[in-house]
Amino acid sequence: MKRKEFFTTLGISASTVMFAPFLVSCSKSSGVADPGTGGTPSGTVDFTLDLSVAANSALTAVGGYLVNSGVIIAYTSSGYVALASACTHQGSQVVYDSANNRFNCSNTGSGHGSQYSVAGAVTAGPAPKALKVYNTQLTGTKLRVFA
Ligand code: FES
Repeated sequence: MKRKEFFTTLGISASTVMFAPFLVSCSKSSGVADPGTGGTPSGTVDFTLDLSVAANSALTAVGGYLVNSGVIIAYTSSGYVALASACTHQGSQVVYDSANNRFNCSNTGSGHGSQYSVAGAVTAGPAPKALKVYNTQLTGTKLRVFA
């Protein structure tokens, strides 16, 4: 089925498609900026990591993690987990603590040191809210991370 036929079956005219490019674009996002403080990545999170390349090799062993486009992806003993990488307190980078299967704020100074579960929930403050959770889907060596 061609694109025009597909939209016709949905009752969407060509002019609608022309003025609503978001309806036809399913491309991955790129250049998603890291959030400033305590937020989630701006823009739509939808990217794929090829685990067969060296840059992503951290995700080939349980306990490994990396940060991409404002998202921290960890290979936990239960599988892949993807969360917003900025602490919800003041935006410092969170890191995966495989020994305790949790995420820790990298800012361990006085008044900081938040901890999060692998589900993003705050388990130790002062972080005021949970980290946003993203979906993961592994197909062969391709790991898709998306909202
Ligand atoms: S920035 Fe993370 S606890 Fe303060």
